[in-house]
Parts: sequence; C-alpha cells; structure tokens
Amino acid sequence: MIELRKINGENIDEIVALEVAEDQEDFIQTTNLRSFADAHMLNADGIPATPLAIYADEIPVGFMMYIYDTMDHESFENEVFYGKKSYFIWHMMIGNNFQGKGYGKLAFKKMLRHMETMPDGEADYASLFYQTSNTTARNLYASFGFVDTGIIQDQSMLAVKKLDVTGKTHGPK
Ligand SMILES: CC(C)(COP(=O)(O)OP(=O)(O)OC[C@H]1O[C@@H](n2cnc3c(N)ncnc32)[C@H](O)[C@@H]1OP(=O)(O)O)[C@@H](O)C(=O)NCCC(=O)NCCS
Repeated sequence: MIELRKINGENIDEIVALEVAEDQEDFIQTTNLRSFADAHMLNADGIPATPLAIYADEIPVGFMMYIYDTMDHESFENEVFYGKKSYFIWHMMIGNNFQGKGYGKLAFKKMLRHMETMPDGEADYASLFYQTSNTTARNLYASFGFVDTGIIQDQSMLAVKKLDVTGKTHGPK
C-alpha cells in the first residue's frame, strides 16, 4: 500500500538518505534535503509548500513536494494559464532501489487526488517541469493528462494539467 506522510523528526533521516541513480541526478537537480529546506523557506515567505514522504508498505521509498502558487512568470504571459493559481510539483523522486515497481505512479496519483481537494486554496492547474530527456517522467506525467506547453527552461519542459474540480483524477488505474 502506498501512503504519503508528513516528514518529521522520526523519518527525516530516512527520506534524506534516499537517492536517485547517478545518471538520474540531472533529472532532479536537487537533493531531498535541499528541497525540504526550500519548503521551509517558501512557507516562511507565505507560499504554501508541502513536502511529503512516500511509503510503500511502511517502508520509505520516495519524496515529493508541491507548492501552491500563481503562474505569473513573464515567460507565461501569452499562455491561457498566465496569472492562474496552480499546484506546482517541485520535486518527485523514488529511491534508486525502489524504482520501476509502480510506486511512483501510485504516489503521483495520490498526490493529484489530494491536490484536487484544493488543500491550500482553489487552483485551475497542476504544473511541473521535467527534463526533456527524461522519457520515463514525461510518459508518466502524460498518462495523467499533463500536456507539454512548449515552454522550455534549462532543458526542462513545462507541462500543465487542468485540475478536475469534481475530484476525479483521470489517469491510469
Ligand atoms: C520517474 C520516477 C519518479 C518514476 O517512479 P517509478 O516508481 O520508478 O515508476 P513506476 O514503477 O511507477 O512506473 C511508472 C511508469 O514508468 C515506466 N518506467 C519506470 N521506470 C522506467 C525506466 N527505467 N525506463 C522506462 N520506463 C520506466 C513504467 O513501466 C511505468 O509505465 P506504465 O505506466 O506504462 O506501466 C522515478 O523513476 C524516479 O524517481 N526517477 C529519477 C528521478 C526523476 O526522474 N524524477 C522526476 C523528475 S521530473
């Protein structure tokens, strides 16, 4: 069973210890520790950030984080989503030893369902960046309805998904 849990004094060390393979480090361009620190700083600045530990049958296998923010970057100016609120997926990783077992897909689905309850406020979109060479991530996100915007920053594509306010995520079972 996959569960998303808060990170606390009990589990922080296990989550920080999770790593991707060396040839995947470029895909995330951060560490779990740094992302956790980013979450604290964003929250202090009034931008809700939610870091979550991914558990599979009580074993910590991954880490993800989303923030609630406005899509107001200048490069979005001509886009329909410009100025709209979004749940932005900042970080998503499954530890090297636990990949390819279906955990990433299940955890992602759970996170999307949670976002559709609008935990930090109303939003029209979910959004994320992925490295254009990261075909596993691209296929995973596309299977949940994320659409490439064509906006590329630092070799990363911005993809967005219109959130389903009825709370029913359309995606793979
Ligand atoms: C991308 C990532 C989160 C996916 O999680 P995962 O648990 O390994 O993936 P799952 O086992 O749930 O598989 C999801 C899909 O990806 C496919 N997949 C998983 N690993 C793959 C691999 N190495 N090569 C090709 N396809 C792969 C699976 O077959 C599955 O496809 P399906 O839905 O058509 O069956 C994880 O591999 C990871 O953390 N990678 C390194 C960091 C990263 O790239 N993060 C994303 C940054 S945007």
